[in-house]
Amino acid sequence: MNILVINGPNLNMLGIREPDIYGRETYNSLVEKIEKYAKEKNVYVKCYQSNHEGDLVDNIQFAYGIFDGIVINPGAYTHTSVAILDALKAVNIPAVEVHISDVSSREDFRQISYVRLACFKTICGEGTDGYLHAIDALIEKVSG
Ligand code: DQA
Repeated sequence: MNILVINGPNLNMLGIREPDIYGRETYNSLVEKIEKYAKEKNVYVKCYQSNHEGDLVDNIQFAYGIFDGIVINPGAYTHTSVAILDALKAVNIPAVEVHISDVSSREDFRQISYVRLACFKTICGEGTDGYLHAIDALIEKVSG
């Protein structure tokens, strides 16, 4: 099983950015944690991060025919991007939305998620462990 983990804008700043909200773990250590977990679960994982909406759309499109599942934290594009929603719908690959923080208890503008409409599950407020739980959900959905 092949899983693509996509992180959107500012998630490369993990560890530096607002540590009270997002914690002190860096993006590189998040990638290591995901890769280690995927190996234990016997799945191939590729992690991708971009600050650019079109690059995120391109990578979702590239996943077509290659990846069996997508874990996506679109960062702020969660709340604005119809293009990312449409890309997820276009490839129709099972997808899980992840947020490190509990977006449901934050500002009003974070209550809207366009990508959620193309995801079978949303995980938020579990810190970076949310990515691992998203991998579990995809394994269950695709092979279970
Ligand atoms: C986030 C929540 C978003 O509202 C924010 O714009 C982010 C990170 C999270 O992981 O909690 O960049 O997706």
